[in-house]
Amino acid sequence: MNPLLRHLLFFGLFAVLPALGAADYQRDIKPILRDRCSSCHGPLKQKADLRLDAGSLIPRESHAEILTRIVSDDEEERMPPEGARLSPEQVSLLRDWLASGAPFPPEEPVAKSPRQHWSFLPITPHPAVPESPHPHPVDAFLFGTGAAPRRAPDGSLLRRVHLDLIGLPPTVEEQRRFEEIPDLAAAIDNLLTRPEYGERWARHWLDVVRYADSNGYERDAEKPFVWRYRDYVIESLNRDKPYDRFILEQIAGDELSDASVETHVATGFLRLGHWDDEPADPQTDRYDQLDDIVSTTGQAFLGLTIGCARCHDHKFEPLTTRDYYSLVAIFEPLERPRKGRTELPLPIEGTEVYAWREPSAKAPPSTILIRGSVTRRGDPVQPAIPAILTERQPSFPAPGEKSTLRRLGLARWIADESNPLTARVIVNRVWQQHFGEGLVTTANDFGLMGAPPARPALLDWLAHWFMHEAHWSLKDLHRLLLTSQAWQAEKKEGAPIRYRRLEAEAIRDSMLAVSGQLNPKRFGPAFRPPIPLAAIEANTDRTSVWKPAAEPETSRRSIYAYIKRGLVIPMFETLDLADTVSSCPQRQVTTVAPQALTLFNGDFANEQATHFAERLRREAGSAPEAQIRLAWRIALNRNSSPNELDRMKSFLTEQSLEQLCRVILNLNEFVYPE
Ligand code: HEC
Ligand code: HEC
Repeated sequence: MNPLLRHLLFFGLFAVLPALGAADYQRDIKPILRDRCSSCHGPLKQKADLRLDAGSLIPRESHAEILTRIVSDDEEERMPPEGARLSPEQVSLLRDWLASGAPFPPEEPVAKSPRQHWSFLPITPHPAVPESPHPHPVDAFLFGTGAAPRRAPDGSLLRRVHLDLIGLPPTVEEQRRFEEIPDLAAAIDNLLTRPEYGERWARHWLDVVRYADSNGYERDAEKPFVWRYRDYVIESLNRDKPYDRFILEQIAGDELSDASVETHVATGFLRLGHWDDEPADPQTDRYDQLDDIVSTTGQAFLGLTIGCARCHDHKFEPLTTRDYYSLVAIFEPLERPRKGRTELPLPIEGTEVYAWREPSAKAPPSTILIRGSVTRRGDPVQPAIPAILTERQPSFPAPGEKSTLRRLGLARWIADESNPLTARVIVNRVWQQHFGEGLVTTANDFGLMGAPPARPALLDWLAHWFMHEAHWSLKDLHRLLLTSQAWQAEKKEGAPIRYRRLEAEAIRDSMLAVSGQLNPKRFGPAFRPPIPLAAIEANTDRTSVWKPAAEPETSRRSIYAYIKRGLVIPMFETLDLADTVSSCPQRQVTTVAPQALTLFNGDFANEQATHFAERLRREAGSAPEAQIRLAWRIALNRNSSPNELDRMKSFLTEQSLEQLCRVILNLNEFVYPE
């Protein structure tokens, strides 16, 4: 036999043998059963009295029948009865697994009745902090009687806290002051009073509420005055508006007894979705708009994927189409101010506001749409909240003079202290931004399909504390989390904090801060930075689609950059900007080659490197050693090591200072907070 062939056969066999019968339950089997079977054979529904959502529930007698059903060619028999049939690979995995006795891990949890799902149950009323030598409650929960991890060095903590709270590295002057008085708690307090805090944290919220400056679709027209909503979020955070009030304003700011221009602006939240100004089917489009509002409200405030119940009862959650259309009924009185294809802002006291309006206090009738179809109206529905979340429906207020007050009813229920989801969801979002990963890793999904909380007692303690001790103050929550030893732990394997690359905006803003170009101008209409020609070449109206501004306007913070749905700024896109169409619970962190090109060869990065070099010459003089020392301080917020100093000095004998700056802006250390 040909030796090569023999080799192949030999290794081939070995490669195949272990795979036989080695279908792994968690990895291979459970996902199939979950995605294709558990909607009818799971905690919600048990067709033929059969549950397949946990190994211990699958009766031995059914093994043969399962196999028969999944391979059957009889449409009446085949499982699953809907959708594509299982692939040959899936069938063979299931066959192997069943043949080997259908093993499963003994500790696999079995979902209780949906009503007992943890996040639908009330928040533990007075959760106790565990006995622990650690005075900080977060540490007591995380470390118990064990030791806390080692604290990171002061210098890196200062950098970390700056990037985390304001999205900019500390200046040399701030580093000096901190070295004199290394009081981290004071530094945290100080950063929380700075306007840059709102500019940093508003961006997190804008991700959750699908913010963009344009409508998307063919024409992708600008949303007039939508930036007022962005500014509203920044100011609300800076003024530490209590989160329950923040909810009321965004959902029902026009219906509040103390409604103002500001609270009207807040309802821009409802109008941020993408919008087709020339839909093929205006009726369906209308329900797409309402769906955008209902789905986003569900995910953003409640961590519920209610949008899945638009066409059929939710397949995995205890949410019905009736629940869905009862929520639709709450928003159905809204109308989008427009003149044909052109959107109109709403004048409120002579200020132009980007919001919907209710033309009358009399609500139109609402019904279920069977299978989501506008031509198939079902039962009438009244405003209500999903039945699973309450024993008793909250009372919706009677219609007011100008509007139905339905949204006010919903907003009050969401912002109520007895709501089991609201506080848990927001506390988890804040935790996620500080610790890199949420206690619940699916920040927009607290339902049955969401991840269970890693630390349920801690999450409940935080949620309770946030409402009752901090009175919904986000700044108090930041202060609490950041003063824990857990958050201040040294960066290493197994630390309670996960390090993620900075977001596109923070990278860009940090570059501007380091180069000395950052323009602190706040608020107002968005600016358009220059973008590569290649990005617009394919566009039909490439002469008008993107008119970039000039410096210093383009050196403003990234939160003020124009987000056009159909033409996302390439640098942001490359660095994983949030999806602009639906709520984004957490930025992805991909690692792809274009990122290196953007950061190393992109015009923006090179311009900032040039500015940075000029700044170093200006501030450090012409001696290479002084330039290097200062560069390290400004960009990396630490002293250069003797080794780094030597290497950079020799680098500068062959290369320009601009090149050195370019290298620094591309160091891993620059884009990862220590
Ligand atoms: C859309 C709903 C639905 C899905 C999804 C579904 N089933 Fe079923 N299943 C049913 C219904 C309804 C019955 C009872 C009617 C029948 O026997 O055909 C049933 C019956 C069965 C039975 C027969 C039980 C008995 O004792 O007679 C088996 C086995 C089964 N399903 C396995 C599966 C498997 C495995 C999957 C996923 C690969 C699956 N089913 C997905 C609806 C579903
Ligand atoms: C625009 C309408 C619509 C929406 C919204 C929708 N579905 Fe469906 N879905 C359907 C239709 C139609 C079917 C096929 C027939 C049926 O089950 O009603 C289906 C079937 C399914 C099935 C069974 C198919 C299979 O392969 O076994 C699952 C599971 C499912 N949907 C999950 C979801 C989830 C999760 C969401 C939300 C992310 C969702 N659906 C949102 C229309 C929709």
